[in-house]
Amino acid sequence: MNRSDARGARQQNSSVRATQVSPQEKIVEQVEKNIKVLTGMPQSQLYPAMRFMAASLGFQCGSCHVIRNGWIEASADDKPEKQTARQMIKMVIEMNKTYFQGNPTVSCYTCHRGQRSPQGAPVLPLPIPSPRSSNGASTAGSTISSTSMSGLPSADDVLNKYLVAVGGKAATERITSCVVKGSTTTAVGQVVTYEAEQSVPDKGHETFTVQNVAGRTCAGDSRCEYERVINGRQGWVKNGQGVQELVGEQLADQKLSFPLFQILRLKDQYSSFQVSGREKIDDRDVYVVSAVRLDNRFERLYFDVENGLLRRRISYMRTLIGMIPQQTDFDDYRDVDGLRLPFTITMAYADPGSLPITRKFAEIKLNVPIPESKFEKPR
Ligand code: HEC
Ligand code: HEC
Repeated sequence: MNRSDARGARQQNSSVRATQVSPQEKIVEQVEKNIKVLTGMPQSQLYPAMRFMAASLGFQCGSCHVIRNGWIEASADDKPEKQTARQMIKMVIEMNKTYFQGNPTVSCYTCHRGQRSPQGAPVLPLPIPSPRSSNGASTAGSTISSTSMSGLPSADDVLNKYLVAVGGKAATERITSCVVKGSTTTAVGQVVTYEAEQSVPDKGHETFTVQNVAGRTCAGDSRCEYERVINGRQGWVKNGQGVQELVGEQLADQKLSFPLFQILRLKDQYSSFQVSGREKIDDRDVYVVSAVRLDNRFERLYFDVENGLLRRRISYMRTLIGMIPQQTDFDDYRDVDGLRLPFTITMAYADPGSLPITRKFAEIKLNVPIPESKFEKPR
């Protein structure tokens, strides 16, 4: 987290404190003073949306914002890029409202593709066309080998095969808790020791300690310790800047980083499923399942065609300026007490300031008693 992020985090923190027990979420203009076009956006979406805009253009925060002493100057609209970005946000909202039934179909990325200047004209000479399939779509080089629904199994078939692959209904329902130990990478690429405890259905606690922040050695320094807690409808992150309460989409996103929540009782987390295609991940065939979560978030799940296991999960945050993806990959499945569980989990974000996070587990212990105090607000 950079300092401008940290400042936002603290502002969020004060907004949360003002609302005390039920963390009813604020909209961004109630918290930030200079919001002219993102009005109505939940506060928890502001930072993901900013990172997404930066990622879409190949920008840093400072490409649009005036940064003073490492802090974003919220009231400063000096940079032409920020002013253009406001126009662009307005344009995207208008386009989606007028032409896409209000769905965030067009985003900054639709045109920018990671670049400052979208390319409006094709580069000549054009590439030689590849052989066409009967529906006219090019197949060579494409990872989508089937766009029709024929030949695809039903969502029930895919989910049942998955349940059998991880160990069966009875085995998964016996699990009440787990303790994992291993390592994680950090957003800046350090590899550090990682520990997490989880209790079904929705409690989790994880800790790790970063090394050498800004040249300091970190042993025994609480500013280097990270702690995350999820306890049902509440959650907290503790880092060098203090304890921040998680609200809205942040809470949903943090839940995603706990492996047990994702793997066990997968089916219970969704209101609908549909098999939407067949693709490849690293040369292995996968079925793509489009799913809607109980909190109405849209996801794509990728199941290995051969062994039935979950390989990838992409969760999309629906915002005014586009669907912001967060991707989790599951690898290195191994046997643990009759279940098959992933020992490597990699999370990737639409955030130019963060490398993908990889957790590698050395051990996973199931049904170990975990004291309730682990799931209390960190101090
Ligand atoms: C493409 C330009 C662009 C980039 C890149 C960008 N922002 Fe913004 N940001 C804006 C615009 C435009 C607004 C004002 C939105 C409005 O008026 O509704 C804004 C608003 C904000 C605000 C509210 C206060 C203010 O300045 O209006 C914060 C805080 C913020 N951005 C943080 C960030 C952070 C952190 C990053 C990097 C992760 C970032 N922004 C990247 C364009 C950008
Ligand atoms: C429909 C296509 C399209 C979409 C969608 C789009 N842009 Fe753009 N954007 C453009 C084009 C084209 C230009 C270049 C204009 C020019 O060259 O004068 C541009 C230019 C910009 C610039 C100025 C870059 C510079 O050189 O200074 C910014 C900043 C920007 N866009 C931000 C955004 C943001 C943020 C979003 C999403 C909220 C967005 N754009 C969505 C087409 C788009």
